[in-house]
Amino acid sequence: MPSVNNTVALILAFIALCSAQRRDTCEANQQFRCDDGQCIQILGRCDLNAHEDCRDGSDETPQACSVPNTTLAVGQWLQAEIQYDTVFEELFIVLCSGETCDKLYVRGATADGAMWYQSWVKCNRANFRCTLVRSEAPPGWAPFSSGRIVFTVRRSPRNMTVWLRGHPEHKASVPVTRADAKQTFKIRPVIWPRDMPTTFSKLPPGTFLVLLRLFPLFYTCSRQITGKVLLMRVT
Ligand SMILES: *[C@@H]1O[C@H](CO)[C@@H](O)[C@H](O)[C@H]1NC(C)=O
Ligand SMILES: *[C@@H]1O[C@H](CO)[C@@H](O)[C@H](O)[C@H]1NC(C)=O
Repeated sequence: MPSVNNTVALILAFIALCSAQRRDTCEANQQFRCDDGQCIQILGRCDLNAHEDCRDGSDETPQACSVPNTTLAVGQWLQAEIQYDTVFEELFIVLCSGETCDKLYVRGATADGAMWYQSWVKCNRANFRCTLVRSEAPPGWAPFSSGRIVFTVRRSPRNMTVWLRGHPEHKASVPVTRADAKQTFKIRPVIWPRDMPTTFSKLPPGTFLVLLRLFPLFYTCSRQITGKVLLMRVT
């Protein structure tokens, strides 16, 4: 019957049109576009959870999961500066040895710099499937606002310790389960619709530097205590 065939053809054309449109437009900030055009929920990107993710596996490739990273040796300090956007929601601050990673999961902080965080160990290379060892939720915490955030990071033999720059009194720390001398450090957004601008600057271990913003105080002091040098550890 031609009319039935026409109706079927029309329905098929409609479905084809819809799926073609879906291929072209993944929802911004909500979905990840696979290499074959499929749209998946953004949470599926780099979670090593094959079920709901790209048919072609393109959400788990090294390219899809690549973020700025640097090495972090035992005894080393660094500052990691990110341009945070609220679309990222939460952060993983990660130290990896090969395929094994330990991470701090950070959701926000109080006005005086105490972070909401959890310490997770023995995660996979996508930073999931790990064991929770510590959880801190300081009263009055709030999610981060968009803008620049600077973390100070210290790698000691047994753990990685992180704090918001200027707030060394509020440290977050995670045990290091693989004791390689040099490991890969990175910060990745949990919701990851686009890359997060990140820069690292290394501070040599045990560096003592003059805090420039204390220069007026230093100047007054040095006039009174001539010959003495006032040095302060940068945090
Ligand atoms: C580390 O950075 C390099 C580029 O500098 C990149 O090729 C690599 O994929 C990154 N690794 C991870 C685990 O993000
Ligand atoms: C780091 O690890 C050592 C040894 O386990 C521990 O004594 C110390 O308290 C840890 N540091 C922090 C800041 O948690």
